[in-house]
Amino acid sequence: MLSKNLVLFTLFSLCILDFDRPSYASDDDERQPYIVYMGELPEDRISLMDVHHNLLVQAIGDGTIARNSKIHSYGRSFNGFAARLLPHEARRLSQKEGIVSVFRSRTQNLLTTRSWDFLGMSEKLKRNQQAESNIIVALLDTGVWVESPSFNDVGFGPPPLKWKGKCEEGGNFTGCNNKVIGAQYFNLAHSVQPYETTPVDTDGHGTHTASTAAGVFVERASLYGIAEGTARGGVPSARIASYKVCWPSGCEDVDILAAFDAAIADGVDIISVSIGGASRSFTKDPIAIGSFHASRKGILTVCAAGNEGPYEATVQNAAPWIMTVAASTIDRQFHADVKLGNGEKISGIAVNTFAPEKGFYPLTNGAQSKNFSGDLYGNASACDYGSLRTDKVKGKIVYCQGAGGDTVVQNLGGAGTIMSSNDDLDTAFATIGIGTYISVEDGQRIDKYINSTRSARAVVYKTRTVEAPAPAVASFSSRGPSRLSPNILKPDISAPGVNILAAYSKFTTVTGEEGDKRVVKFNVESGTSMACPHVAGAAAYIKSFHPRWSPAAIKSALMTTSKPMKIKPLEAELASGSGEINPRAAVHPGLVYDIGTKSYVSFLCKQGYESKDVALITGKNYNCSNITQAIGADGLNYPSIHLKVDNTDSVISAVFYRTVTNVGIGRSTYVVDIEPPEGLSVEVTPNILRFFRLHQKKSFKVMLKGKSIQKNMWYLSGSLSWSDSKHHVRSPILVSLPTDY
Ligand SMILES: *[C@@H]1O[C@H](CO)[C@@H](O)[C@H](O)[C@H]1NC(C)=O
Ligand SMILES: *[C@@H]1O[C@H](CO)[C@@H](O)[C@H](O)[C@H]1NC(C)=O
Ligand SMILES: *[C@@H]1O[C@H](CO)[C@@H](O)[C@H](O)[C@H]1NC(C)=O
Ligand SMILES: *[C@@H]1O[C@H](CO)[C@@H](O)[C@H](O)[C@H]1NC(C)=O
Ligand SMILES: *[C@@H]1O[C@H](CO)[C@@H](O)[C@H](O)[C@H]1NC(C)=O
Ligand SMILES: *[C@@H]1O[C@H](CO)[C@@H](O)[C@H](O)[C@H]1NC(C)=O
Repeated sequence: MLSKNLVLFTLFSLCILDFDRPSYASDDDERQPYIVYMGELPEDRISLMDVHHNLLVQAIGDGTIARNSKIHSYGRSFNGFAARLLPHEARRLSQKEGIVSVFRSRTQNLLTTRSWDFLGMSEKLKRNQQAESNIIVALLDTGVWVESPSFNDVGFGPPPLKWKGKCEEGGNFTGCNNKVIGAQYFNLAHSVQPYETTPVDTDGHGTHTASTAAGVFVERASLYGIAEGTARGGVPSARIASYKVCWPSGCEDVDILAAFDAAIADGVDIISVSIGGASRSFTKDPIAIGSFHASRKGILTVCAAGNEGPYEATVQNAAPWIMTVAASTIDRQFHADVKLGNGEKISGIAVNTFAPEKGFYPLTNGAQSKNFSGDLYGNASACDYGSLRTDKVKGKIVYCQGAGGDTVVQNLGGAGTIMSSNDDLDTAFATIGIGTYISVEDGQRIDKYINSTRSARAVVYKTRTVEAPAPAVASFSSRGPSRLSPNILKPDISAPGVNILAAYSKFTTVTGEEGDKRVVKFNVESGTSMACPHVAGAAAYIKSFHPRWSPAAIKSALMTTSKPMKIKPLEAELASGSGEINPRAAVHPGLVYDIGTKSYVSFLCKQGYESKDVALITGKNYNCSNITQAIGADGLNYPSIHLKVDNTDSVISAVFYRTVTNVGIGRSTYVVDIEPPEGLSVEVTPNILRFFRLHQKKSFKVMLKGKSIQKNMWYLSGSLSWSDSKHHVRSPILVSLPTDY
């Protein structure tokens, strides 16, 4: 349900999203859950609980209240605790030695088959089966429904020896198997009552993402015949570890951080997080903190970029050690078209599982069905709740302006609902009964037709699959630049996130709405939530060939081999990142841009984090003033290049330093190929890199020069590629202007 809300909220009523609203049910109204983050684990871990307790006693001034206020001690992979605090206690703690940050725990939101074929990974793809079965993909999500055919463990051996995680019990959970080897839940903020805690997925989102990343082959999977094909994940032989951190009210920071703490210590290889919220300082963002520690331990974290597009500067989860994923379309679209009684045909986009029982139905609209004694504030044209007369809609197809009218019409006994959308109709949403979404202009045609006759009629057809040009970035996918570090190009990459068929949970229905009785094994969903596990699966696939590659190397391989997106040229890389993933090519990238923890640290220093905070995050003494060299825009060896200029008048002049590591052929020569952004000059020195052995590193310098950007442009886009004829190692170069966000 959360995923659908997310997409609907962001697509149709952006302002409803309120990330600050606490969903936390506390018996003490004033105390609120806070996270006290203390960075790296100290050498001596035994006394962590005591340290946390003592800090709390000092801040609160009362041992008993301190004990009752503590929610959780983090301490398997990093140091910190969660507690219910009053604002002044939080302030007092934040001033203490050894504490990086103290921040309110907030609620974050949750943000196929064909999709893997579309990415060039056919069912017969060459796999490193043995290594793949040792890969563990962790998902921080709504849990998992293990009985799904996508998690059938026939042919799987016992979990890899490195696995230290566990399988919890509760509710209707039937236990783990050799496919889903771990299932834990985190309910530290009491999002649900203790008797409601369970690792089982009652939402569908977690089952969908887990099966997209690593589900096994399931033939003839479909949603009532829609999108039929063989469902599978990116790494069908890999293992799944599920960490349930999202409940019906959302995903709490305290739980997300606890799940990272556990997953890193449990021995997982890749972490997939389809959760997002408003962006905040890296030291106060549990996903940035958790993924930093994961990265230090060699674990890549892949995150959804957010569903707040097409607006600029909405990208979430943008820390440079995270792989941030935009959602793209695949080469099919779901049409649920309309035919009117006068023969007019109207194109509709929806997941409508219902075939019309009797052809034409009488047609009306919300305005003509208004209940004049009903809800005074309701908008009848939009079919708002309480605004319509039962007798006017019963047995009819109703045209409602805007989204969401279908539940109201359905509850009043309507035969079906036609809804309109101002946004790009690139995403098909499930309707609760017969229904579809059309453009606003086509909606006016329907109104006109209704006005023109006393016997208006219409039929809405069941969804059929239509080929479509692809990939394009989905309209809802969040756009860059990142507000926190604008010179790092974010999102990083795109992957399919529109109309994705994957496994679903038996404990919910297609829409999750009241009155929906369709329990399904596979469902169609859209969101950057769906794109994220595609990249997690692809990263796991790369890791099965290169088990020792660093998280940054895996990320670089996926980015530099991705395919630039061409369909909506105006959107450029601020929508798509480097391009659409191409997992097969990413196994052989030739060169990688590697980044170690040290570089992330100097990046943090440059971002203005204080030495003491940086030291605590890294666990080593660090002096930010020691960074003297200017190493690129943000001091990072990033596989893409982004320069943000201050205004249209500024002359463009910037130097970027990069180092590539040879992971291709020992003796090889790479020549640079530059496509300069229009009107700019790009000089790369040296422009030939000669390697004599594997793992050899070579550095180069990129100089970007030009007159100011013209006023009518807000970005310029180009690229730089290293090529040895076998490999093409491509990095986008983007220069962008500030926009008025
Ligand atoms: C188990 O599932 C059934 C059917 O969906 C539901 O009615 C019941 O409340 C669930 N039990 C628990 C403990 O969650
Ligand atoms: C109109 O609205 C009123 C007040 O909500 C309600 O009692 C009544 O049943 C509605 N009429 C019809 C025909 O649905
Ligand atoms: C009713 O809702 C529609 C669709 O959201 C909107 O276009 C229209 O302006 C609204 N009408 C009123 C009177 O608020
Ligand atoms: C349909 O008729 C209503 C009521 O007379 C009017 O307000 C509306 O503008 C008409 N719509 C169209 C598209 O002609
Ligand atoms: C910072 O640089 C100074 C002077 O070069 C050196 O003595 C010190 O060890 C450095 N500190 C750290 C934490 O790197
Ligand atoms: C950090 O380094 C600078 C310059 O190297 C030095 O002046 C300063 O004292 C150092 N600070 C700490 C806390 O070591």
